Amino acid sequence: MQISPLLSLLLPLAVASALPGRFQASSSTSSGSKAIPTIWVAGDSTTAPDGGHNGTEGWGQYLKYSFGDSAFINNSAYAGRSARSFTREGRFERIAAAMKPGDFVVIEFGINDGGTPLNGSTSTTGDKGRADCPGAGNETCTVIFNNVTETVQTFPTYIEAAARKFLSLGAASVIISEQLPNNVWETGSYSYKPSLFSYYDLLVAERLGGPSGKAYLVQHGSYAAQAQKLLGAEVVNANYPMDHTHTAPFLADVVRIIEKSRLKNATENYTA
Ligand SMILES: *[C@@H]1O[C@H](CO)[C@@H](O)[C@H](O)[C@H]1NC(C)=O
Ligand SMILES: *[C@@H]1O[C@H](CO)[C@@H](O)[C@H](O)[C@H]1NC(C)=O
Ligand SMILES: *[C@@H]1O[C@H](CO)[C@@H](O)[C@H](O)[C@H]1NC(C)=O
Ligand SMILES: *[C@@H]1O[C@H](CO)[C@@H](O)[C@H](O)[C@H]1NC(C)=O
Ligand SMILES: *[C@@H]1O[C@H](CO)[C@@H](O)[C@H](O)[C@H]1NC(C)=O
Ligand SMILES: *[C@@H]1O[C@H](CO)[C@@H](O)[C@H](O)[C@H]1NC(C)=O
Repeated sequence: MQISPLLSLLLPLAVASALPGRFQASSSTSSGSKAIPTIWVAGDSTTAPDGGHNGTEGWGQYLKYSFGDSAFINNSAYAGRSARSFTREGRFERIAAAMKPGDFVVIEFGINDGGTPLNGSTSTTGDKGRADCPGAGNETCTVIFNNVTETVQTFPTYIEAAARKFLSLGAASVIISEQLPNNVWETGSYSYKPSLFSYYDLLVAERLGGPSGKAYLVQHGSYAAQAQKLLGAEVVNANYPMDHTHTAPFLADVVRIIEKSRLKNATENYTA
């Protein structure tokens, strides 16, 4: 029997997602009084509604199909954002203001976080107010952005601060999710390397205490790269209609399925 690349990709994941879950059990109680949790999603265009536009889509839009009636998904990802600009624009704060104890938050950044902060940048020039201060710790960079002096923090500082805020408000867990790869077939042969931000995600999850601190790392980029490898160049190339970063709906959905199995595992392993 010939197994299609997509089927062979989905089979092991289907096994993973068939595991009985604490999350599902607790959210389908018959008490009737327990509100379903919200899974809040923070990220950039690879996750956001309408993706990078032009017919592309972010994977967060499909997460609702993974959880059905057991969770509400709020996809607050926004195109063009980095950990820095998502913070500066109050987007983490708005999630914090709206979330309830027992909710989950997924945080996925990296594609817009590279480079170094430049003086005199505006929303359309220089680093566009997106680059984080280089470093893994409490380093800061002082720059003028849009005529305003800004103390720019490092990527781990932004992500850790957001995660700690959500946990202090009673989040059931925070899922630090690795950025997605660009088209792994763009050179003609398969190639994938985790980014510096992948390492920073690991560092943040560790600093938060890992699962016992209700912080989970999802190696979303690595898993998505494996999925793209299995799908093959033809299918993958056809699903990057605009550039090497933004996915067509089919590939966004594949990537959502991967996130789902890991997300479920993270919620399953959480013990109150
Ligand atoms: C789920 O989590 C357990 C415990 O951390 C781990 O052993 C297992 O490999 C995970 N499964 C998946 C599909 O990630
Ligand atoms: C995307 O669409 C906009 C118009 O909505 C257009 O200006 C832009 O050039 C398109 N970009 C790509 C890469 O297709
Ligand atoms: C999702 O959350 C944002 C805050 O990040 C809020 O402004 C928006 O109204 C929410 N959307 C829904 C459908 O609840
Ligand atoms: C920055 O981190 C270093 C190393 O962890 C620490 O020694 C130092 O006190 C910190 N500085 C500030 C301003 O928090
Ligand atoms: C930006 O300009 C300010 C004020 O002139 C200076 O203090 C700061 O070091 C500069 N930052 C960078 C990254 O060049
Ligand atoms: C920054 O200041 C200059 C000079 O005062 C002004 O022309 C420009 O519109 C300002 N830019 C922003 C983004 O406020």
